[in-house]
Amino acid sequence: MKKIKVEGEKPYYVYIGENLLLNFGEFLKNNLKESCKIFVVTDNLVFSLYSDILKKSLEEAGFSVFFLVLENKEQSKNFSNLLKIYEQLFKFNMSKEDIILSFGGGMISDISGLCAATYKRGIRLINFPTTLLSQVDASIGGKNAINLEFGKNLVGTIYPPSMVFCDIALLKTLSKREFYSGFAEVIKYAVGFSKELFNILVKKDVETVLEEIIYRSIQIKKEIVEKDEFENDVRIGLNFGHTVGHALEKYYNFKIKHGEALALGMVYITKSSYKAGITKFEDFLKLKFILRKFNLKTVTNVDFEDIFKNVLADKKIVKDRINFSVIKNLGELKIMSLPILQFKDFLRG
Ligand SMILES: NC(=O)c1ccc[n+]([C@@H]2O[C@H](COP(=O)([O-])OP(=O)(O)OC[C@H]3O[C@@H](n4cnc5c(N)ncnc54)[C@H](O)[C@@H]3O)[C@@H](O)[C@H]2O)c1
Repeated sequence: MKKIKVEGEKPYYVYIGENLLLNFGEFLKNNLKESCKIFVVTDNLVFSLYSDILKKSLEEAGFSVFFLVLENKEQSKNFSNLLKIYEQLFKFNMSKEDIILSFGGGMISDISGLCAATYKRGIRLINFPTTLLSQVDASIGGKNAINLEFGKNLVGTIYPPSMVFCDIALLKTLSKREFYSGFAEVIKYAVGFSKELFNILVKKDVETVLEEIIYRSIQIKKEIVEKDEFENDVRIGLNFGHTVGHALEKYYNFKIKHGEALALGMVYITKSSYKAGITKFEDFLKLKFILRKFNLKTVTNVDFEDIFKNVLADKKIVKDRINFSVIKNLGELKIMSLPILQFKDFLRG
């Protein structure tokens, strides 16, 4: 098992390895000062696949375990489910020293993170991400959110977990589509921050080096989050491709996966930055090549005005300006800020 320490106001460890779930209860027992209640937030699919193993592992180690199961769709990240979780936390008399265990993909870590941050002004949170996307991205760095009717991730906080467990054995049950969707975030790290990671993605059979890919991705995110925990400068780079990506997710009413929308968003903004003379054509081609290797689409036929309408709901618009990032050189991003109308022209290319 490898581990990475994420420094910050509340430092924490991310553990990466195979079959961590089986020994999870024992590990917690040996690493927590005393036993406590564990309130698991999960989705119906993850519950059906892994709740028995999780429950057994925790109960044998002496923990009391409660489950709350949400429907496995992006729209579950909403207010009424947040309220449902608060009600159950109250019912089971959960205190600040008890644990909310987020056990699922990014949808689950986003809503349970927000709940942990706000219930009793902050209750202990452990992330046990079960998708590739949430292992390399959503479970690290503390950002959480729910969606509102008019836009994605509009209500949220930054609240770091106290531990994160990435068990690569759990990724075996992901559908191919979900697995590849997760690679969109890995590709974001590669084209934005690491040529070495890009070369691994190009040259290697990724199934054989999955643990290394996850480790490197988390290492990149850790370094950025440590420099800028509250997203004032370098962390904006992690949103590469997300402005258009979120707009497309919303446009399609979440019928496409987060990573699929991100892939399209990265291509869209890179086409614009190439036309603006910032990104080299060669790097634009490399981005499209690597996305296609992971079955991710690189072309959308959505009308520009429809995309832009949804871009306006982006929370990165501050005082009529929008912050975003583009590829400067493969492995390096440039952070930009434009008034929204100029951004519209930039994006249209
Ligand atoms: N807070 C952040 O920093 C951050 C970063 C990136 C993405 N996100 C958010 O994460 C969400 C996307 O995350 P996601 O792609 O993990 O989606 P998800 O949580 O919706 O999970 C995708 C699907 O995979 C299934 N699944 C989960 N684990 C599985 C397993 N081990 N085996 C089989 N199926 C499994 C789920 O049931 C679901 O159907 C979006 O809401 C996005 O906004 C947040």
